[in-house]
Amino acid sequence: MRAPLIPIQILLFSLLNCGSIMAGLVKSDTEDFIDWWPHTVFYQIYPRSFKDSNGDGIGDLKGITSKLRYLADTGITATWLSPIFQSPMVDFGYDISDYKAIQPEYGTMQDFEELIDTAFELGIKVILDFVPNHSSDQHEWFKKSAAKEPGYEDFYVWHDGILQENGTRVPPNNWPSVFYGSAWEWHEGRQQYYLHQFTKEQPDLNYRNPRVVQAMDDVLLFWLKKGVAGFRIDAVNHLFEDESLKDEPLSGKTADSLSYDYTKHIYSRDLPEVLEMIHHWRQLLDDFSAKHPERPTRIMMTEAYGGLTQLADYYEDSNGVRGSHLPFNFHFITDVKGDSDARDYVYNVEKWLIYMPRGHAANWVMGNHDNPRVASRFGPASVDAMNMLLLTLPGVAVTYNGEELGMVDYRELSWEDTVDPPARNVGEEHYKEVSRDPVRTPFQWSNATNAGFSTATKTWLPVHPNYLELNLEAQKAAKRSHYQVYKDLLELRKSGIMRVGRFNIEPLSRWVFAFKRSYPNFESIITVINVSDQEQLVDLSEFLSQPKKLVVEVAGVDSKYQTGQPLAASALLLAAREGLVCRLV
Ligand code: GLC
Repeated sequence: MRAPLIPIQILLFSLLNCGSIMAGLVKSDTEDFIDWWPHTVFYQIYPRSFKDSNGDGIGDLKGITSKLRYLADTGITATWLSPIFQSPMVDFGYDISDYKAIQPEYGTMQDFEELIDTAFELGIKVILDFVPNHSSDQHEWFKKSAAKEPGYEDFYVWHDGILQENGTRVPPNNWPSVFYGSAWEWHEGRQQYYLHQFTKEQPDLNYRNPRVVQAMDDVLLFWLKKGVAGFRIDAVNHLFEDESLKDEPLSGKTADSLSYDYTKHIYSRDLPEVLEMIHHWRQLLDDFSAKHPERPTRIMMTEAYGGLTQLADYYEDSNGVRGSHLPFNFHFITDVKGDSDARDYVYNVEKWLIYMPRGHAANWVMGNHDNPRVASRFGPASVDAMNMLLLTLPGVAVTYNGEELGMVDYRELSWEDTVDPPARNVGEEHYKEVSRDPVRTPFQWSNATNAGFSTATKTWLPVHPNYLELNLEAQKAAKRSHYQVYKDLLELRKSGIMRVGRFNIEPLSRWVFAFKRSYPNFESIITVINVSDQEQLVDLSEFLSQPKKLVVEVAGVDSKYQTGQPLAASALLLAAREGLVCRLV
């Protein structure tokens, strides 16, 4: 790999002296721009499947710690961990029974502290998953609330339900749960229904109760004091419900009243109060950062599958109040598919940059533990091109573990091995349509037993059988591999141009688009991507506008091009699904 294109110090110097010129990039003020997070790659670890250190078939904290060196060697400087807290594991950690304790299967508090210390030494920031919308029904808060213990009566959303003329009692309204079935469950002890927007073992906390807000502030401060760099906030748009608890209008999408698609979620999701809560947590983080400047800025990333305006407001509302540092941008998961053309991709990128208020960092999420992997969404041939797209766009990139290897969903996973609650809820006939297990199978480290993930005879989810060929060890040893492409791209990101270069993107044809990072008097970086299944010939000259020399910077595994190779801009031939990162010298 070549030396970085422009030393970041030179660019920082010129920026600080010339004012902000970062149109469309990190539309940032200088203060944010020099902070650590607006350019970082966040690597999501799914702890249960990453590395098992004690041979019980379940990933754990010591396992993660043992692999932090791998992250650092790859060039990763920040990771977010799916939940590691005490949990009955109905929703694999998203049902928390003690927000301040480590799940015993995953280790101890000491293991966590060691993880934080090792990460710190390796220059890796750790972000924890904060699950505020619901706890587990095994949490003591819920037990106390069910028993109407003073101070806990209204910790959750309780309702008598409706007594029908025939004497039967039914839930207060028609709201379905995200995971199928009514969002209300009858509680024998309290003789009332409680709300659960996810499984019935995940009762919704009541954020209209200041005691709940206070209890959650304590949780955040507890982990901040342990040295975490911030939080990924789970299902944030579900926090509040309309107090009237009215029936929701029907969507018309399905006749199945148990399906989440049955209603339009106007009373149970995306309420304006959500934004107030985000502002409250931002203030808490900012106050903590100000009081503890010895560690970097503490940040929040929010999970909500929402509209552009809504997510833009999460960044900063119309009154200029700042909220989430990074409202996850899931549009590469939700809005482009295997058959999308170049215009769809360009539109997808532009729309985020247009809606994002000035002074914020763009972010791009390519995958997570809830959605099919890149190789399964776009096909294995697209793995390198999609990593090029993700990692050369301006701003923050989010990678789900295993995507650097091009891991593939284990779609053949049997009903007997299926453990994901929404999949179990819909039954054997339909489980494959919704199961998230195929994207959560163990990380493929090597061709050893269980892909080097665990020494157990049985792992919590089966390992994808393709691990014999598809694994990290093999990809490190190969002449060229997805992993090496990924690593080269991270190396390239260190160059100043990738931080501050001006950005523009255009479709070059129906199937090929290109984008450029440029800065006056410096070399530019150009990414070109063919999203079709056919070879494509494109003319880049007009897009480049200057008759300069174009050379290959990073090429994919199967590319006929090699790093350093000069290219003819007027007639560039790209193989099916090929991406190419080039340098304009
Ligand atoms: C989020 C998580 C998902 C979980 C759900 C309920 O969407 O990403 O995995 O099941 O929230 O907590």
